[in-house]
Amino acid sequence: MSRRYLINFDSAELPRIDTDFLVIGSGSAGLRAAIEANRHGDVVLITKGALQESSTRYAQGGIAVAMSEDDEIGFHVEDTLKAGAGLCNEKAVQIMVEEGIERVSELIQWGANFDKEGETLGFTQEAAHQRRRIVHRGDATGAETTHVLVTHLKKQKRIQVIEYAFAVDLMTQGNTCYGAAALIDNTLHCIFAKATILAAGGLGRIYQCTSNPKVATGDGFALAWRAGCEMMDMEFVQFHPTTLFLMGAPHFLISEALRGEGGTLISARGERFMGKYHELEELAPRDVVSRANLSEMELTDSPCVYLDITHLSPNFIQNRFPTIYHTCNQYGIDITTDLIPVRPGAHFMMGGVRTNMNAETGIRGLTACGEVACTGVHGANRLASNSLLECIVFGTRAGKAAAEYAGTLDTQVHASVRIQSYDESESSSDKFNDTSNPTVDVNTAQEIIRELMWRHAGILRNGEDLKKVADALAPLDRSISGNQIEALELQNMLEVARLITRIAIARTESRGGHYREDYAERDDTNWRKHLVVRRNEPTLRFEPV
Ligand code: SIN
Repeated sequence: MSRRYLINFDSAELPRIDTDFLVIGSGSAGLRAAIEANRHGDVVLITKGALQESSTRYAQGGIAVAMSEDDEIGFHVEDTLKAGAGLCNEKAVQIMVEEGIERVSELIQWGANFDKEGETLGFTQEAAHQRRRIVHRGDATGAETTHVLVTHLKKQKRIQVIEYAFAVDLMTQGNTCYGAAALIDNTLHCIFAKATILAAGGLGRIYQCTSNPKVATGDGFALAWRAGCEMMDMEFVQFHPTTLFLMGAPHFLISEALRGEGGTLISARGERFMGKYHELEELAPRDVVSRANLSEMELTDSPCVYLDITHLSPNFIQNRFPTIYHTCNQYGIDITTDLIPVRPGAHFMMGGVRTNMNAETGIRGLTACGEVACTGVHGANRLASNSLLECIVFGTRAGKAAAEYAGTLDTQVHASVRIQSYDESESSSDKFNDTSNPTVDVNTAQEIIRELMWRHAGILRNGEDLKKVADALAPLDRSISGNQIEALELQNMLEVARLITRIAIARTESRGGHYREDYAERDDTNWRKHLVVRRNEPTLRFEPV
């Protein structure tokens, strides 16, 4: 059995912080949850980097919301279910789409400056939406959303933000969560909270090519797994078809909105190719476009394909896509005249910590929201621009549920809890600080994981290769030592890479973000099921939708 805690500690011997609510993560889900919980008590929000740093900040496309005159809640629900390829939780989708309207209106009330057409909100188009329904601020909607939520959060009197604090593990006793152990200024602290909200974001950094920022190393998934949460749909990773591919440049996202505005994909031979792969061409589902890009890269023996938006006027491009325009310009590409070299990258995790409609996990006192959570809204594949919507809707719900739970507690009993992480018996080879095994440099081990996951547990998968990945990952943790943050992150990366691989081996069909070359068809007769896994249960559970 894998270890329960990464570091041995006794809470009685460590610096202690007490609060009503602990929020882990500062993306839009965490920020929104903190604002909500703050109505009911004191909040401590810890975040691994600076307050503004999260995947939200880099979101370009926008927020999908059924607010335009020709749109309806029913249409948005329909598109989301279709993208989710038969695995969405319909109730969760209905909640997200309905409450999303109120949540987006609230952002506007708090100062969000989304683009307008005349006096009314402007809506853009993205793949698989039957209406133009994406509200946006140029191509920097995530930055605008972060700015508005952070500004609003800072006006609240009872929220303490601790930046550069690394949550090492959730503290649990029995089936109750009491907060988290976190490294603050290199010292382990115990943060005791009546209720804990996990909003620690995604895991794209376990793949070699990803649109995700450095912080997205899957920590939240690993924390929840070790604490005994149910993890659901972990095989469904979404790859974005177009991230910038240039030597020396980051895999910067090239938004789907460019294809929404008529951008076309061109192979290294100069041919437009999407018509060969799907009737919706460039606006086909992301998994289809990602695979088509890979296939064309192989056919032309090229490391990338190209995106062409030169049919748009330079003025329009510079106003509508200023971030992409300026970023590409830094690397010598003028997107008003040049083709943009692109390739797919890991972008979003559909699965995660299983929650109910109120963002509650199976552990008392622990809610989860945002990318780390699996409410079932995305099913096997997320519809473009539904992620920020999910974050603000279920972030709010997580804050409310945390407050309700906290209201039921006997505060005295809670305050006297002591957590001793070495209580659980572990074999010596499982101990984090065991130094009897040879060590691998942390950067090298990270590269090994990223490369293995990219090559064999990424866009194209097959049983044989997945098993090779599983075998290669199995012994790696014995070689990792050290309590520095990079080593702890590495343990988390390894844990989530193993989970994804294990579940991807089990799903012998292709659906949404999970494509098996050896089982290339979708199999609704046998596989309209979720795969659920828990740390202390030796076998996977198969649960019909
Ligand atoms: C994009 O701008 O293409 C990304 C939007 C999203 O992932 O929802």
